[in-house]
Amino acid sequence: MNSPIGIFDSGIGGLTVARAIHKQLPYLPIIYFGDTAHLPYGDKSSESIQNYAQRISSFLLKKRCRIIVIACNTASAVAYEKVKRHIGMKAIVFNVIDPVVDYVACNFKRGRVGVIGTKGTIQSRIYVRKIAKVNSAIRVSSLATPLLAPMIEEGYFNNYISRTIIHSYLSKKTLSGTRALILGCTHYPLIKKEVEKFYGKGVDIIDSADIVAAHIKDKIGNLYSFSKRKQPERHFFVSDYTEAFEKSAAIFFGKNIKLKKVNLWR
Ligand code: DGL
Repeated sequence: MNSPIGIFDSGIGGLTVARAIHKQLPYLPIIYFGDTAHLPYGDKSSESIQNYAQRISSFLLKKRCRIIVIACNTASAVAYEKVKRHIGMKAIVFNVIDPVVDYVACNFKRGRVGVIGTKGTIQSRIYVRKIAKVNSAIRVSSLATPLLAPMIEEGYFNNYISRTIIHSYLSKKTLSGTRALILGCTHYPLIKKEVEKFYGKGVDIIDSADIVAAHIKDKIGNLYSFSKRKQPERHFFVSDYTEAFEKSAAIFFGKNIKLKKVNLWR
């Protein structure tokens, strides 16, 4: 197999997953789709997100992707089953939630684990339900943090405004007494340092990017046989051009990335 891996999110968040996949599987060609026209996904209805996710998956299939990663917690929470049914046997579909649930089950036996994410992810109660299924001794406290993804998308992190917003969310009573905090949105690795600073030592901050990449490598790594000398192709598509996306893509993958705008909803 030598087809590219297709990765999508509402915007730059999925780039954290794409970068981790690239680190673990450096010879794998990547097609990335940032659905910037519909950002943020966090406050859209499930029906809309399912519709976006199916269209994007069809686009990635047309680009010959045989592996599709829903690099967005919100879409993983509400559209994973729909996308899998839509794609059928044509590609393997991964979400970003199941590998994190497995990680929590392996690393924590009991106690309270917090999760922060978009309204869509938190209202779906997906982490609460999935973690209870694998270990009911772990209690999950969830908090919707809807300002964070748009803040990060706009490039607001490591500054006074981001610190104030992060502090105000993380001081909420719901999250007190947690042993670990799941960053349940793929945008949040970009504020991981600020979250770690808030807690200091003693609370594990679980960032899904590396966990998801390791899971994918484990499942598909041996299906591929790439020439190790050739630089793999990487293509970045967006549904609407934004400067923020271009800047972030360059931070993650270097300046000479090819950013193309496509309209899948015409
Ligand atoms: N990065 C996404 C997630 O993991 C979505 C953020 C948004 O568009 O609201 O949920």
